[in-house]
Amino acid sequence: MSYRICLLPGDGIGPEVIGAAREVLEALPLDARYDEQQVGWECFQREGTALPDSTLAAVRDSDAALLGAVGSPSQRVAGYRSPVVALRRELDLYACVRPVRTPPLPDARPNVDLIVVRENSEGLYAGLEERNGDRAIAQRVITASGSARITRWALRYARQHGRQRITIVHKANVLRETCGLFRETALDVLTDAGEIAVDELLVDTAAYHMVRDPERFDVIVTTNLFGDILSDAASAWGGGLGLAASANLGDHGAIFEPVHGSAPDIAGRGIANPLAAIAAAALLLDHLGEANHAQRVQSAIDATLRAGIWTPDLGGSATTADVTKFVISQLQNQE
Ligand code: NAI
Ligand code: MG
Repeated sequence: MSYRICLLPGDGIGPEVIGAAREVLEALPLDARYDEQQVGWECFQREGTALPDSTLAAVRDSDAALLGAVGSPSQRVAGYRSPVVALRRELDLYACVRPVRTPPLPDARPNVDLIVVRENSEGLYAGLEERNGDRAIAQRVITASGSARITRWALRYARQHGRQRITIVHKANVLRETCGLFRETALDVLTDAGEIAVDELLVDTAAYHMVRDPERFDVIVTTNLFGDILSDAASAWGGGLGLAASANLGDHGAIFEPVHGSAPDIAGRGIANPLAAIAAAALLLDHLGEANHAQRVQSAIDATLRAGIWTPDLGGSATTADVTKFVISQLQNQE
């Protein structure tokens, strides 16, 4: 079967790191066709839209998409809206997933291996805000169906990846209705968890543990805002922005991306760390059911880090091309 993989390089360092990830994918014995499409701020300036219909159609048609980064104008520009948000909405990508693992780098905190599964279609980020004189109000929408599907996603992931614990994070002692509904629904879904341990933490306690003993976490499932904050905090244990990858997943679509943005300060200099985008490609492979290839790419990333082939963000002097070449040489060594 030939996979259809849509590439969305975007702005700034996006094209540099997606080019690198594509080279790595092409070095695998994977039957795939790549379809490159435009998205983002430069696209908006050229085409008058940050997300052309042709791009949306191509993402819909693909088995998975890999996005670099999109820049945004510093001031508000009429007609410009974030294509990332639009893509999530259009494709109903309700799960935002970020794995964080101890990287093989000196001084890294050992034994961190967790994944934050964040509900991404409702909660405080549903965009229901208004300002009225002295008051500004945001509505927080939580549904039982939305809470159930994100928890089922977390459970399926935990089973497929041999995970041992799922922690529900909420604040139901204060937000009795919204977090209360999320908590009840999640606990209900997880009565089917079998061998997998289930526990729950209040979000403030979870933040404390994320700093004090991140090793205690395995799979975290939580609502939109809490997940956003906890996943950024967690990523500090994973070696930083140059390495962190994430996935936006729905029942009919999947977009993988490095967590970093378009990094205008280093764009065009050939020194962007491509490993976050390559790690995103590994997540994409895993999603396609190519767990073996995903594992190989992840091992090649680890070998590259162990060998000290580091871009400047990690304290080295390697270029994007050096790192990419080394990753590919490691893939070839595995054979
Ligand atoms: P950023 O992630 O682009 O950069 C933050 C810092 O990290 C910069 O110093 C940058 O050079 C460095 N950095 C980021 N990725 C790196 C890499 N792969 N290798 C080496 N260094 C790296 O965040 P910033 O500066 O806040 O935002 C820049 C633009 O990116 C903005 O327009 C923002 O809206 C956009 N952005 C887009 C995202 C996306 O497409 N999902 C996510 C975050 C920001
Ligand atoms: Mg964030």
